[in-house]
Amino acid sequence: MTHAAITGVGAYLPERIVTNDDMAKMVETSDEWIRTRTGIRERRIAAEDQATSDLGVGAARAALTDAGLAPADIDLLVVGTSSPDMVMPSSACLLQAKLGLSCPAFDVMAACTSFIYAIQVATSAIESGRARRALVVGADALTRLIDFSDRRTCVLFGDGAGAFVLEANDEPGILGIDLGADGSKPEVLQIPAGGSAMPATCQTVEDGLHFVQMNGQEVFKFAVRAIPATTKKALAASDLTIDDVTWLVPHQANQRILDTVADRLHLPHERVFSNIECLGNTSAASIPLAVNDLYTSGSLRRGDVLALVGFGAGLTWGAAIVRWTKEDL
Ligand code: ACO
Repeated sequence: MTHAAITGVGAYLPERIVTNDDMAKMVETSDEWIRTRTGIRERRIAAEDQATSDLGVGAARAALTDAGLAPADIDLLVVGTSSPDMVMPSSACLLQAKLGLSCPAFDVMAACTSFIYAIQVATSAIESGRARRALVVGADALTRLIDFSDRRTCVLFGDGAGAFVLEANDEPGILGIDLGADGSKPEVLQIPAGGSAMPATCQTVEDGLHFVQMNGQEVFKFAVRAIPATTKKALAASDLTIDDVTWLVPHQANQRILDTVADRLHLPHERVFSNIECLGNTSAASIPLAVNDLYTSGSLRRGDVLALVGFGAGLTWGAAIVRWTKEDL
């Protein structure tokens, strides 16, 4: 059987750093409140002329270089995002042109779980023989969809992009995947206006309905239930247990969520990767950005097992168990 494995990893972060003290100049908040409630100290914000596909370019190029591939080698491009450049065309098509690719390209939208869903799509294409080399990009400029006068949401998010190259491989790299969705409570986390249900009007803009609305406590409760459950299901599908996991790499939404999940899975906190302090919540980009940090800091060894776990609006959740097959740096 043909397997899929990660052969390239890349990341891109916009230059502008916005600290908690900077946020405190915009809304009534404080560094202390943000750090103790979320673990976030600073975040990156995309430049005015950067949209989601522009962030994706840097991450995709870095992943291609890391895999030793040229754009022409890629036969599938999947972009996971919740802040596409525009409703149509997809950010994947815009990114495809910017990278000089000529393969099929499409977006997967499962909010902060988008990257895990995108890995599932690319893995299935490789395992079935429909693709051999897929570029999977998680990119979000979610700060464009945030109300910077709403202190409950604006302090949480940052922008960025991460990417994997997945290739057909004799040795399995993507071991098992679990995906889930429950669309019965969309109001927990949503952007109500700007789509076909509520097209943008002067009134929707005046009412701020094109911005992210979130019930933070409901998201918290959902996340600390969903992450352990989907991790265990994906591990079972991989014939592994939590004791086999070298690194749990959850979507970086809130340090308190990560700490609670570590306790519920009986994992030492140091095996739950976190870079939320410096990046905030980068939505679909957070998991590949985290893996890139682990990889470039030399923390990954061939044979290590990673549990990549996403959760987000929809509600959606999912986990991908990865055996690290790249040679040590
Ligand atoms: N600064 C100061 N005070 C604030 C801020 C802020 N930035 N934000 C909210 N508050 C205030 C509220 O107004 C409220 O004041 P009030 O009691 O006078 O009305 C008080 O703090 C408590 O508000 P809560 O919403 O109850 O605060 P909570 O302790 O739940 O923390 C938080 C909010 C951090 C958002 C938390 O609910 C959380 O982490 N939820 C998870 C949500 C999450 O991670 N979302 C990420 C996006 S979803 C995703 O990525 C999948």
